[in-house]
Amino acid sequence: MKRIGMLTSGGDCQALNAAMRGVVKTLYNSEEQVEIYGFKDGYRGLIYSKFQMLTGKDFSGILTKGGTILGTSRTPFKTIQDPDENGLNKVEAMKQNYYKLQLDCLVVLGGNGTHKTANLLSKEGLNVITLPKTIDNDLWGTDMTFGFQSAVDIATDAIDYIHTTAASHSRVFIVEVMGHKVGWLTLNAGMASGADIILIPEIPYDIKKVVEKIEDRNKRGSGFTIIAVAEGAISKDDAKLSKKEYKKKLEKMTHPSVSYELAEAIQKKTGIEVRVTVPGHMQRGGSPCPYDRVFASRLGAEAGKLILDNQYGFMVGYKNREVVRVPLEDVAGKLKAVSPDASIVKEAKLLGICFGD
Ligand code: F6P
Repeated sequence: MKRIGMLTSGGDCQALNAAMRGVVKTLYNSEEQVEIYGFKDGYRGLIYSKFQMLTGKDFSGILTKGGTILGTSRTPFKTIQDPDENGLNKVEAMKQNYYKLQLDCLVVLGGNGTHKTANLLSKEGLNVITLPKTIDNDLWGTDMTFGFQSAVDIATDAIDYIHTTAASHSRVFIVEVMGHKVGWLTLNAGMASGADIILIPEIPYDIKKVVEKIEDRNKRGSGFTIIAVAEGAISKDDAKLSKKEYKKKLEKMTHPSVSYELAEAIQKKTGIEVRVTVPGHMQRGGSPCPYDRVFASRLGAEAGKLILDNQYGFMVGYKNREVVRVPLEDVAGKLKAVSPDASIVKEAKLLGICFGD
């Protein structure tokens, strides 16, 4: 008999359900007897003992379903070791609930913050297996996270739609793509939709270069310009500030986001009309794309296999087109950012895409 706890934590994304289904199907297809306990709303459910016993039926028909059947929440790692408002030790509470239910393993689906807590629980002696989810694709130790490809599809569609109206009106359009810390999503959706300028957090931009590119396009007869901007895009000047100073600057900013600030600057410098579109959380919503359905199912199946093999303390990742096991301690606390020297950036530049650097 295997008693498995499962939770989804952090911002949701597509294919969370597909991944959980993959784990559960694999377990049910084995000789092993299984009991599945689904914790509600991420680590909160484990802390406050909010769970539900689930059966195979609960996982049936969810391959294509967006969101997460378990619910999710953000439980910041920064404060996980602080007592809650009633003085409860959250880490101890999670351990106690794990032992009370006599769990053999906890399966955690999450991104960066989630992995730090998962690693902590693993170090505290719990049997933990994780699965890498996030539209940001910024988890270290895996070439790909599920949710990413679905979000690329949505962000690409959004930019495609903008393309036609931008051309009709000879305007500059900024499409703000999700990603505060990394630019994988912006880079891929930008390239897929033929954006002329791509601004990502890893490559601070110079407004002069951005304006030059727009003016050059105008001279060549392309009256419109499409700029894909990551939520966390940063100018060269701002990149010189300390983290604290930049945070303060953002707090004081009167624009809703950096894209609007950039739009104002471009309009002032070029006299061209600039519009901003923010697809926002749409990028995390809806059904997973076929790639993510297959990908998440594969990772889920491997997680099921790890449980059957009593192998714990791993994230199931993807390297060089193979599903791999990565020790949790190697993953936790590391960010997989776009290197400015990455070949994809070099190739994008060969295509004439401007990064503002
Ligand atoms: O989960 C990742 C992410 O979607 C980022 O791309 C985005 O910046 C952030 O979450 C938004 O967070 P929230 O849903 O808490 O507003």
